[in-house]
Amino acid sequence: MEYLSGSGKAQHVQGMFVRLSKHYDLMNRIMTARQDIRWRQEVVQRLNLPVGSLLLDLGAGTGDLAKEALLLHPDCQCVAADFTLEMLLVGKAKNKQMPIEWAASDALCLSFPTNTFSAIVSGFLMRNVSDIDHALFEQHRVLKPGGKIVILDTTRPVKSLLRPLTNFHLHKVIPYLGALITGDRIAYTYLPQSTENFLLAEQLAACMVLAGFRHVGFRRLMLGTVAIHWGIKPDIPG
Ligand SMILES: C[S@@+](CC[C@H](N)C(=O)[O-])C[C@H]1O[C@@H](n2cnc3c(N)ncnc32)[C@H](O)[C@@H]1O
Repeated sequence: MEYLSGSGKAQHVQGMFVRLSKHYDLMNRIMTARQDIRWRQEVVQRLNLPVGSLLLDLGAGTGDLAKEALLLHPDCQCVAADFTLEMLLVGKAKNKQMPIEWAASDALCLSFPTNTFSAIVSGFLMRNVSDIDHALFEQHRVLKPGGKIVILDTTRPVKSLLRPLTNFHLHKVIPYLGALITGDRIAYTYLPQSTENFLLAEQLAACMVLAGFRHVGFRRLMLGTVAIHWGIKPDIPG
């Protein structure tokens, strides 16, 4: 598959998550050996949410980050937004007890007013958007001054002695498991491809600074194939 950009990429990504919605959670648990749950917990802990915060889980899919946030902060209000309705419907069905507000919204044109949210999290969204700078700009816009952003995503692995191992996992194990469990080898070939084509962790941090975030930092996980980035929208712009 050639590497797509612009609206072609958005259509491809949406179509893929429509097809994967029913198997998405199971594949996540298997591919990461359940580590994704721990990463989501770390994302939410890094927010240090004050009581009564309004949180946006962007590219929420089936809402696992929103759920984790409510488990840690039952007092917060949580909006889970995504442009693939089928993912949101799976999330809504499995989180009936959770007071999550589900919203159809495109990360490149957020349907929320400026300065709305106390914090924004995203899990495995950013490498899927066709314009990373614009997605960051939109998140900066809807965050309140002083609000925090935390991003969990795969990241382009750096050269290391373990690279053959991570390559084998990305290019052989994941497509094989994806085909076996979901019957969709193409979707699970896209995952390693989008990881290889995504920014290095340092580059994503630089984009966050360019979008206006401050106190930006990151931590690599899973042999350098996953990273958590964080930053703050300053009280005073600049
Ligand atoms: C890999 S899934 C991640 C789901 C969930 N955040 C998680 O941590 O498991 C990526 C999600 O991002 C959504 N997505 C991709 N591009 C988007 C965009 N431009 N606007 C909103 N959602 C988008 C997809 O529909 C999909 O549900």
